[in-house]
Amino acid sequence: MSDKFAYLSSVERSRTYLIKGLQTVQAHDGYISDAAIEAIAAYFSVPPVDVEGVVSFYAQFKRTRPGKYKVAVCDGTACHIKGSISILEWVGTELGIKPGQTDRDGLFSLETVACLGCCSLAPVMSINGKVYGKLDRKGTVKILKEYRKNG
Ligand code: FES
Repeated sequence: MSDKFAYLSSVERSRTYLIKGLQTVQAHDGYISDAAIEAIAAYFSVPPVDVEGVVSFYAQFKRTRPGKYKVAVCDGTACHIKGSISILEWVGTELGIKPGQTDRDGLFSLETVACLGCCSLAPVMSINGKVYGKLDRKGTVKILKEYRKNG
């Protein structure tokens, strides 16, 4: 196992803990890279294809490196009623990506979330945890442009 994944040694080396190992890597790196698949397979003595299978089965695991700015558009009930699908379309158009993707510059990644806990501000999105509410098209695009300007 490469030194890059030495922190895996904090997880018991038993196949039973494969998911724990994946969660540990994702918490550390933000996603499960090809190198991580290999390292985890070696650590738990399972074929890489089995590790891939587990990763693809559970939606919690990401195979794409997150962007510097993680945009999360809420699609919980309150936000959905207030037009979250439009927010998602505007963000996707502005950034040129779909949920689950990261843009080519590695600046933005996009995901949907169930509820950010501030339904009174619906529709809502967050960027790296900072919440923006009562969004309209103009405001949404302006926020994204500000982040892009700051790089
Ligand atoms: S449903 Fe969007 S913040 Fe609760």
